[in-house]
Amino acid sequence: MEHRELLAFAEETARGAGEILRRNYGRRQTIRFKGEINLVTDVDRESEEYILGRIRRRYPDHGVLSEESPERTSPSPYRWIVDPLDGTTNYAHGYPCFCVSVAVERDGKVVAGAVFDPLLEESFTASPGEGAYRNGERIRVSNTRELRKSLLATGFAYDVRTSSDNNFDYFRAFVFTGQAIRRDGSAALDLCYLACGRFDGFWELKLRPWDTAAGLLILKEAGGVASRLDGGPYDIHQPDLLATNGQIHGRMIEVLREAKK
Ligand code: IPD
Ligand code: CA
Ligand code: CA
Repeated sequence: MEHRELLAFAEETARGAGEILRRNYGRRQTIRFKGEINLVTDVDRESEEYILGRIRRRYPDHGVLSEESPERTSPSPYRWIVDPLDGTTNYAHGYPCFCVSVAVERDGKVVAGAVFDPLLEESFTASPGEGAYRNGERIRVSNTRELRKSLLATGFAYDVRTSSDNNFDYFRAFVFTGQAIRRDGSAALDLCYLACGRFDGFWELKLRPWDTAAGLLILKEAGGVASRLDGGPYDIHQPDLLATNGQIHGRMIEVLREAKK
């Protein structure tokens, strides 16, 4: 199957779901708590229903892994990986930073990824070897070479209050070594912002495949680099991710190593 066709479908799907988020944004949401600070709104579910419905109709034999539903396994080599609303806490508070992330893999390799921010109307897309785009225009990572001039992004997992593996040491270390740090609350957008040069580096400890599947391909196609925090190879099934413009990657690994001691 053509990657181009899959990408077009992924992008249309992310845009359609984004429209659901936009339409309901700012309205009172029904919120259910999956954990003390981990919530899900009825809009996460509506967005997911829309996306899964579209995939089911167009590609009935494909597998689907989506955050709010049990995985649909399939003998097909294709599997969709979906975050129907990345940035749920922001969304529930009316903080305008969230997106839809839709990716599809063939035999375990992501072959198309789309991330859509419905408020800024920014659509980030990529397929392997074809480059990364924002609203159809080619994007590239930044050219910042020094960590002290770098704008960094990170996030904290929902177990931040109960786990000692909570990112505070790393956060502290980068406060002293980077230029500034943002915690925007949408890992998929963080990766796209890195891909288009708004951020220079990003790290997080406990991500899930739906947070990174589309954003990672977009980042790589924009010339970015990804690894685990210790510099080992990263794939979307690993929890910890260090992603950068490539230039500051080695330096960030050093800081992480130092902070861990
Ligand atoms: C979360 C966001 C957040 C990140 C968390 C994710 P959700 O996803 O991407 O930025 O720090 O690790 O779980 O729950 O809003 O889909
Ligand atoms: Ca997410
Ligand atoms: Ca989500």
